[in-house]
Amino acid sequence: MKKRTFLGAAVLAAGALASGAALAQGQPFKIGLILPMTGPQASTGRQIEAAARLYVAQNGDAVAGRKVELVVRDDTSLPDMTKRIAQELVVNDHVDVLAGFGITPAALSTAPIATQSKTPEVVMAAATSTIVDASPYIVRTSFTLPQAAVPLADWAVKNGIKSVVTLVSDYGPGIDGEKAFVERFKANGGKVVESLRVPLRNPDFSPFLQKAQDGHPDALFVFVPSGTGAAVMKQFVQRGMAKAGIRLIGTGDITDDDQLNDMGDGALGVITAHHYSAEHPSALNKQFVAAFEKTNKGMRPNFMAVGGYDGMHLIYDALKKTAGKGGGDALLAAMKGDAFESPRGPISIDPQTRDIVQNIYLRKVERVNGQLYNVEFETFKDVKDPAKSK
Ligand code: PHB
Repeated sequence: MKKRTFLGAAVLAAGALASGAALAQGQPFKIGLILPMTGPQASTGRQIEAAARLYVAQNGDAVAGRKVELVVRDDTSLPDMTKRIAQELVVNDHVDVLAGFGITPAALSTAPIATQSKTPEVVMAAATSTIVDASPYIVRTSFTLPQAAVPLADWAVKNGIKSVVTLVSDYGPGIDGEKAFVERFKANGGKVVESLRVPLRNPDFSPFLQKAQDGHPDALFVFVPSGTGAAVMKQFVQRGMAKAGIRLIGTGDITDDDQLNDMGDGALGVITAHHYSAEHPSALNKQFVAAFEKTNKGMRPNFMAVGGYDGMHLIYDALKKTAGKGGGDALLAAMKGDAFESPRGPISIDPQTRDIVQNIYLRKVERVNGQLYNVEFETFKDVKDPAKSK
């Protein structure tokens, strides 16, 4: 208890110091990037770090004359560790912005630090709807599950899917995805045979897939976090679920570009809804993917990478708008309403909710030049988080 009080006071003091220090030009502008570089979400950390470094390499390491420094820390996906690192970054390193956050619990555990120290928290990966409500200093450049799940539920009923089993990871984003999909699917006249939730840590999908198979639905709707999709896909194929007439659908986390090309032909034809595909046919995306692949041999950027790249863009824009001065409140004001073209398409930050507004695409896994990609075939423009417009 004592320790916590002490740290709380230190964070408050650091916040006051930081706003003063920010005015002192000549000090570097520090971005504390907290990511899972090891552990089950390591691919998310790898993708975001690579994208953030690419953004700096392409746009320079100075903004409005102020030197920008990235301080990257590994939280191993443990939220207590995320919070401790965030405290250290604010108190000892005097970072101007906290960014990253590979999973929802990591983003939530840091929210009180962001609030107390008035430090913007740029959420580049985590996707539970309510995250932006946890602190007025949180801004998100990733996505929310309902953004993707609602258009997918509409597509499903229009395309002959009358019944589903849902299978999601049992925590924030999975529950959001399940709720949004089920509500919309039922409202459209679809039948939900069963809703299954699988533990986030060390999941064993086989008993759940068995249950899903026994329900004989037209489709299985899946959400599992980035890095886990290939395991589900492999078992879905091995069990012959597609041959038994069950279609696999989901948010784009299941056909994650980081793993998709290694999933094999079993992934062909899978329909997902998401905000980013490495195959997105814009000039900016083609440049982004080429530059990313050139500097990171053997890697293809996924939706986590684009969240990191755009998060850096947002921070650079905000620092520019404050003429290099920074300061938590000024940065946050500058981030609200910011809009630009991302490799995923046009995006903006809703000034009321601080959440991202973006296009959602329906995509189908196809072979393109010998490689598996999510090929977009329909666009829903400027989608806000449906969970917040209720
Ligand atoms: C999350 O924990 O919020 C999360 C992680 C990975 C995803 C989506 C959401 O792919």
